[in-house]
Amino acid sequence: MVNLKGGSGKSTLAVQLALSWAKARTLVLADIDPQASSALVLDRRDPTVEVVRSTGSKLPMLKTGLARRGLQCLVVDTPGSMKEDVAAAISAADLALLVVRPTYLDIAAAAVTAQMVRQLRRPALVVLNQAPPARSGVESGVVLKALEALALLRLPIAEAIVRSRAVFGRATELGRAVSDVEPASPAAAEIDALAREIGQALQFAQTPEAGYLIHT
Ligand SMILES: Nc1ncnc2c1ncn2[C@@H]1O[C@H](COP(=O)(O)OP(=O)(O)OP(=O)(O)O)[C@@H](O)[C@H]1O
Ligand SMILES: [Mg+2]
Repeated sequence: MVNLKGGSGKSTLAVQLALSWAKARTLVLADIDPQASSALVLDRRDPTVEVVRSTGSKLPMLKTGLARRGLQCLVVDTPGSMKEDVAAAISAADLALLVVRPTYLDIAAAAVTAQMVRQLRRPALVVLNQAPPARSGVESGVVLKALEALALLRLPIAEAIVRSRAVFGRATELGRAVSDVEPASPAAAEIDALAREIGQALQFAQTPEAGYLIHT
């Protein structure tokens, strides 16, 4: 989860995606943000998610060690500053998730991170978070405008959009999955859809010839 911009929802999505994937996979969440928000909320609360506090420079070694243990999934939460650590996380990742809020200033700020991702030539997916919910099936103008602006980042954009919903804050602070706190809620469905889409992108990215295919 990356974005050199605070508050976009990196930790919220790191925790929620980790809890979702951990239901079917062995998983570690590495928190390289000194504020350690996701480590704080998850520490010892959920036995399915092992939490490691780390730094960008330690990630390659951590990855090797975890792969030796046969671990299937590593989620990395990163700080909203500290370019070098964020670059190290992008380099270590099979897929960098650029988490962005749908505002002009957020998208402008995300351009710096998007450029970093492109320079490092790593697969990435832009995830829209804290978007206003669609009303009666009609997408909000804010989201439509944001999607247009996000196209300028020249990175693939996730179809799954995560909306602004109070349960995300409530559940995440408790270190619990939204699907446990509010089963069958729109929030749970959004995380489920995003987790699946990322899973598909990762399989795609792992085929040797895929290279930049997911980088449109
Ligand atoms: N989809 C959402 N709906 C409602 N609130 C959200 C959502 N995503 C995040 N938030 C809230 O936005 C705030 C910032 O989220 P979070 O801490 O995950 O961002 P961050 O990108 O990790 O920030 P930082 O860069 O400071 O680490 C929190 O209060 C969180 O509860
Ligand atoms: Mg955070």
